[in-house]
Amino acid sequence: MKALVLSGGSGTRLRPISYAMPKQLVPIAGKPVLEYVLENIRDLDIKEVGIIVGDWAQEIIEAIGDGSRFGLRLTYIHQEQPLGIAHCVRLAREYLGDDDFVLYLGDIMLDGDLTAHAREFAESRPAARIIVRQVPDPRAFGVIELDAAGQVLGLAEKPGEPRSDLAAIGVYFFTSEVHRAVDAIAPSARGELEITDAVQWLLEHGSRVEAGRFTDYWRDTGRAEDVLECNRRMLGRLAPRVSGEVGPDSELVGTVVIEEGARVTRSRIVGPTVIGAGTVVEDSQIGPYASVGPRCTVRSSRLSDSIVLDDASILAVTGLHGSLIGRGASVTPGARGEECHRLVVGDHVQIEIAA
Ligand code: TTP
Repeated sequence: MKALVLSGGSGTRLRPISYAMPKQLVPIAGKPVLEYVLENIRDLDIKEVGIIVGDWAQEIIEAIGDGSRFGLRLTYIHQEQPLGIAHCVRLAREYLGDDDFVLYLGDIMLDGDLTAHAREFAESRPAARIIVRQVPDPRAFGVIELDAAGQVLGLAEKPGEPRSDLAAIGVYFFTSEVHRAVDAIAPSARGELEITDAVQWLLEHGSRVEAGRFTDYWRDTGRAEDVLECNRRMLGRLAPRVSGEVGPDSELVGTVVIEEGARVTRSRIVGPTVIGAGTVVEDSQIGPYASVGPRCTVRSSRLSDSIVLDDASILAVTGLHGSLIGRGASVTPGARGEECHRLVVGDHVQIEIAA
C-alpha cells in the first residue's frame, strides 16, 4: 500500500501566516504538522509516499527532504493550481499505479491510531473506506450519511443543511477503483474536483464504500484557533528535556523542553512549553502552553497559550495570550511610551488589543 499526502492548497483561512509559509509546515509543539502526518503514515507500515505540492513546493522539499529520516521514500508531485482533492488523485495516477493507497490531507492533526482502520480496509478491500468523526458543526466538511447498519448512503461536500453530524476527517483508503471515479466526475460549483463526488460516484456505480469511525483527537489546522488548540494538545504529549542553558535564577515548572543553544535567564517557564533552539529568554514568564520557535528573543515579557515562530522578538510585553506570531515579527511597546498603538500590519492580520 502507498500513501498520497496533500500538501498543496491555498491556505486562505490561515492568512497572514500562509502568505509566508505553507500551512503544513506550521509548527505544533515545535514540529511541523506535515511531520506528524508522515509519522502516522510510517506507523501504518507504509514506505512509499507521494506528496502533492503546490506553490510552496521548494519550502516543503527543503524541510522534509527525501523522507529517509522518517523511514519513508517520498516522491513529490507538483500541482500547478489547487483544483481539488480528487484532482490530486488524478495527478498521482501514474505514481499510484494499481496499488491500494491511503489519501491523507497534509494539514490535519490526529492523536490516535489508524492501524485498526488500515487493517479493516486491507481485509475487506472496499473501493473506498472513509474515516469519519462526529463533529458539532459539520457544514465546513465533507459530510457522510450512514444508515442504521452503518452502510454509507451518501456524501455531500460542505452542505448548507448537513444530513448527519459525521465529517470526513481527511483520511481515505482506496483501491485502484477510485481512478475510474476520479476520471468520471466534473468540477463542483466552486470549481474543484471533489473527493466526496468521486466516492459518491463509486456508490452510485455499485462499488463498495465503507465508513470507519475515528473517536480519538482530530483537528483540521485550517485556522489560527485550530492551530493553537492543537498546540495545547500536542504540548501535553511532550517529554521534558533541557538541552540549552537554564540559569540558577530561573525556574522550570512542569513539562518543559529547552532546545539546544537556548538561554533562559531570571525567568519562569511553566510547562507544557517548548523553547526553541538558540532562543534567548530573559526576565520573563513563559507558559503554560507556549511554543517558542528557534532564534527568538523574549525579554521582560509574559506569554502563554501561544505559538511564536522563528526569529521573532517579544520585548516588554506582559499580556500575550492565545497568539500566533509570525517569523521575524516584533512585538514591543512604543518607543515614546505613550498610550497609543503603533502598528505596521500586513494583509489579513487579526489584532485584538486589550481595552
Ligand atoms: P483545504 O484546507 O480544504 O484547502 P486549502 O489548503 O486551499 O485551504 P483554505 O480553505 O484555507 O484556502 O485542503 C486540505 C488539504 O489538501 C491541505 O493540506 C491542502 C491540500 N490540497 C491540495 O494539495 N490540493 C488541492 O487542490 C486542495 C484543494 C487541497
